[in-house]
Amino acid sequence: MEFLGLNRFKSVTLVFLGSIAASVIFAFLTFSEYAREMAEKRQQLGKMTTAFVATYASVRTDGSIVPASYRKLALDRFSTGQTADPQNGVTMRMSGLPGHEIATVEEDPSVADTITGFANSADPTRRTEIVIRNGRLVGRTIEPSTATERSCAACHNTMSDSRSWAVGDVMGALVVESDLSGGAMRIAQNTTLFFVLSLAALGIFARHEKARMNAAVLILEKR
Ligand code: HEC
Repeated sequence: MEFLGLNRFKSVTLVFLGSIAASVIFAFLTFSEYAREMAEKRQQLGKMTTAFVATYASVRTDGSIVPASYRKLALDRFSTGQTADPQNGVTMRMSGLPGHEIATVEEDPSVADTITGFANSADPTRRTEIVIRNGRLVGRTIEPSTATERSCAACHNTMSDSRSWAVGDVMGALVVESDLSGGAMRIAQNTTLFFVLSLAALGIFARHEKARMNAAVLILEKR
């Protein structure tokens, strides 16, 4: 009897551990897919911003505001509109290289460090990260903004004499942040449901297998 009791304990533990393992895999896969989709969305927003600003720069006439100011106004308007929906909100800002900004100083020390890192790197590439900020889960994409043309350097050099810009210098970065808290919460709820369902399914399966084994043992014993 003791032997049977131990067996029962063992199969309950196995069913439990199996459900936990399946749920962890489920949560991991759904969250990484969600995080990847959101990162793609942030990247698309960055590309669209660049396309709009480049188009504006090519059609603007003397007397219109400079493209950088146009971009700043548009990004502020976009980001302010998003705060009405903090659950799925995306915010965007173009921050300067720390210590050499014209107008936008990066407030987040870790983003500021990343921008400084871009400037010191031979081949700065986009950085995608997930951080916890003010108790919320935030997905962030930091895209280096490099002086691709001489006009970038020339204009910035007239605005400030903190350094002399040249083509190829990293002048700042486009920072796009999306709030992942709402999505993570939904995934947590789905995972709980998945856990309960897999527990039930594995439990029924284990019970069924045990009954089948018992029947087989009975047949063997009768021989
Ligand atoms: C005609 C002048 C002019 C040109 C050309 C220009 N910028 Fe700027 N840039 C500005 C001004 C003015 C601001 C500040 C805008 C604001 O926040 O209102 C700015 C802001 C920025 C910022 C945000 C950080 C900061 O310093 O406030 C970055 C990054 C930047 N420019 C990069 C570039 C790059 C890269 C190019 C070339 C592709 C470029 N700029 C071309 C005038 C210019």
